[in-house]
Amino acid sequence: MPVQLVNQIAAGEVVERPAAVVKELLENSLDAGATKIVIDVEKGGTKLIRISDNGHGIHKDDLVLSLSPHATSKIRSIDDLEQVISLGFRGEALPSIASVSHLQLTSCWQGGDETWQLTMNNSAASELSPAANKAGTTVEVRDLFFNVPARRKFLRTEKTEFSHLEDVVKRISLSRFDVDISLRHNQRVVKALRAAKDQLEQEKRIADIFGPAFVEQAVHIDFSYEELRIWGWIAEPTFSRSQADMQYFYVNGRVVRDRLVTHAVRQAYSDVLFHGRHPAYVLFFECNPAMVDVNAHPGKHEVRFRQGRQVHDFLFRAIHKSLAEVKTNDTGSHELHHFSKTAMAKSEHVSTASQPGMQNQYSLQSSMPFAVAEQRRAYKNILSGILFCNCNILCHNDQIIIFNFINNINIPFKLL
Ligand SMILES: Nc1ncnc2c1ncn2[C@@H]1O[C@H](COP(=O)(O)OP(=O)(O)OP(=O)(O)O)[C@@H](O)[C@H]1O
Ligand SMILES: [Mg+2]
Repeated sequence: MPVQLVNQIAAGEVVERPAAVVKELLENSLDAGATKIVIDVEKGGTKLIRISDNGHGIHKDDLVLSLSPHATSKIRSIDDLEQVISLGFRGEALPSIASVSHLQLTSCWQGGDETWQLTMNNSAASELSPAANKAGTTVEVRDLFFNVPARRKFLRTEKTEFSHLEDVVKRISLSRFDVDISLRHNQRVVKALRAAKDQLEQEKRIADIFGPAFVEQAVHIDFSYEELRIWGWIAEPTFSRSQADMQYFYVNGRVVRDRLVTHAVRQAYSDVLFHGRHPAYVLFFECNPAMVDVNAHPGKHEVRFRQGRQVHDFLFRAIHKSLAEVKTNDTGSHELHHFSKTAMAKSEHVSTASQPGMQNQYSLQSSMPFAVAEQRRAYKNILSGILFCNCNILCHNDQIIIFNFINNINIPFKLL
């Protein structure tokens, strides 16, 4: 097969739409140690995607090579792949993107005073030419899928493509609080995120991305067990969602969608969330890279845990414990917990029996002085089933808290 066709086939898996191009280019910038990244797009990314970083750059001698299939500076052997900490390792993103667009690559190696540029059309690289000096690397991708009409047909409206692209930028921005990231669409600034140095600034970045409500109703957690660590923010059940659209999970800094993870988190929330509601979270899982197989999907969206059961139990316990500790009106943080070996070994899973309908299993008794009328109304609500429409039930330790969406009131009960 001609090189162009090989690259286009690879592009079929890696480059589904403009958002995928942005993901690959951002990952390259982060792998290059960039602390500042500027993203410029036009027409939802179909006309132009330009990403500039201040990373270590590409040496002049490697510029052509970096656009060749299977060329990567990130791994050398299969053993390296077992320990890989970079986001990229397949050596196929740039050639794939170049095979379905007009690509220009400009780079200055390690802040030197020589910047070189080359363009790639139909998998043929131009001669290198000197360019205006600028630290780091700039990749410009124009007219995506200009030569693949079948792919172009699958593109949605500018608005939809941009919203996918923006979602990628959000996800990656949250994976690296220490990097300045800005996004412009059709010359308009959409996001300008400054590097966040401490928890307060990190929460500000999250609020910039999700809006303030999530942070206001989220708990900061940080748990470790041997080589495993989970930290980040989990929303209190009062901030549940009708869709699973605020679930951000990272494995060693990599954006990941994983069924084992989703299941562990769901199970941890099962006591406190209504059927059909979804938890919201931004969680960072860190472990020895050898425990994760990152080469599970060409788009690198999925990973395989070598000890899936242990990871599942660890996540479940950390989140379940945090939720159990959430008290009414208490959004304190659950810093640095260490699980003991015996606690992990026991790792008992709570039953999911206390889902909707649980009010039938307990006698309820008020634990706080509140108006009798309110108490009566709450009982009446339970009995009449209105509860299921307007309320959410939080159940932890010996308390049940009924949160009424409409009146925004918490009604606590103590279990007899
Ligand atoms: N922004 C950048 N800064 C510095 N080097 C870069 C940058 N982008 C690409 N490179 C170099 O070009 C090489 C090829 O990039 P490409 O994205 O195709 O492959 P990769 O990142 O190694 O693997 P993957 O296909 O999994 O992304 C990289 O290995 C890296 O050496
Ligand atoms: Mg890459």
